[in-house]
Amino acid sequence: MPSNEEKPTPELKRIMVTGGAGFIGSNLVKLILKEHPEYSVVNYDLLTYAGNLVSLKDVEDHPRYRFVRGDVSNLHDVKQAMDGCWGVLHLAAESHVDRSILDSGPFLQTNLIGTQVMLEAARHHRIKRFIQVSTDEVYGSLDPDDPPFTERNQLTPNSPYSASKAGADLLVRAYVKTYGLPAVITRCSNNYGPYQFPEKLIPLLIRNAMNDQPIPVYGDGKQIRDWLYVEDHCRAIMKLLEEGKPGEVYNIGGNCEVVNLDLVKMVLAELGKPQSLIKFVKDRPGHDRRYAMDTGKITAEIGWKPEYSLSQALPKTVKWYQDNAQWVQSVVSGEYRDYYRKQYGDRS
Ligand code: NAD
Ligand code: DAU
Repeated sequence: MPSNEEKPTPELKRIMVTGGAGFIGSNLVKLILKEHPEYSVVNYDLLTYAGNLVSLKDVEDHPRYRFVRGDVSNLHDVKQAMDGCWGVLHLAAESHVDRSILDSGPFLQTNLIGTQVMLEAARHHRIKRFIQVSTDEVYGSLDPDDPPFTERNQLTPNSPYSASKAGADLLVRAYVKTYGLPAVITRCSNNYGPYQFPEKLIPLLIRNAMNDQPIPVYGDGKQIRDWLYVEDHCRAIMKLLEEGKPGEVYNIGGNCEVVNLDLVKMVLAELGKPQSLIKFVKDRPGHDRRYAMDTGKITAEIGWKPEYSLSQALPKTVKWYQDNAQWVQSVVSGEYRDYYRKQYGDRS
């Protein structure tokens, strides 16, 4: 073959990513553009307080990337943006448990109605693969000696957030059974990493500690979460897009259960800050005690497992926030300050 002969360009598959300006979504969009030349991306996001285009600054002019501002609960706009797409990665959601306790309305609108609209549009466009990005919280809470959640556990959500996600999962199941929609549900444990909004535990505690502000620990601080580095979650989503079996549910987790208080102490040590910053505050109502995931299915069927351990990725994450104080500053608006006052102001 003559050396100057052009290689045929493989046909691009277009994927719609909803919530691509959020924490996991922005990491996912960048991973796709970097590691998957076979896909182009339509990032469909409403840009709520949690969505920030500044997180996507380095890819905004990428030839395989397009941003569309829109609401997942608007069928007309969703159908338009989904036109020509091969697959859908549905991440857009109201995602913070504490906010769902203050006001559950937006959670039902976006997480439940928004998912129904996404499913209708996917049916209309005969989407080849639909990934519903869900959460371990739909399973409820574990006692200390319970085995980890498997995909066969019942859904027993305890917060308005997790109930809205469980409802969305059930709708996805109904669309698979009723209309044969080729959808896969993923249920992942707690993520951490760059670009996470500082209302969630890890970025909130890094930010407060860096500013010598109190670290609010709910209740006795003995709750347990299973932590996964966001890049590992994104890789799992991409593997399931390609190899997940339609109609199936896959747990994703870090096999990394940590007591909240221990995690707080690890971050303080990483930052060289004193434990005297810890302030025990009133517990979250309905607070789930423990999450843990059995990830045997995704490992056996798809060959995915986490690449990062907490001891590798937590210091990396802390350093990212130290180096990117400007990003944090740019995403915390007046709205965030109002929320912070409501959430923590009279909590003691
Ligand atoms: P996030 O809050 O950081 O981002 C959510 C994004 O959705 C934002 O960009 C926001 O603007 C967008 N959005 C909100 N409402 C919208 C609407 N009506 N229409 C269009 N866009 C809208 O959330 P995240 O932490 O990145 O979580 C992403 C998904 O992953 C969610 O579905 C969440 O339930 C799930 N999940 C998160 C975790 C975690 O630890 N963060 C773990 C498991 C599953
Ligand atoms: O498990 C997956 C879920 O993880 C996702 O579905 C959610 O979108 C995501 O927000 C997260 O939910 P959590 O409620 O577990 O995460 P959060 O960071 O809010 O809290 C982690 C733990 O830390 C939880 O036990 C509550 C506690 N906490 C949290 C905050 C914000 C505190 O003790 N103090 C705090 O100020």
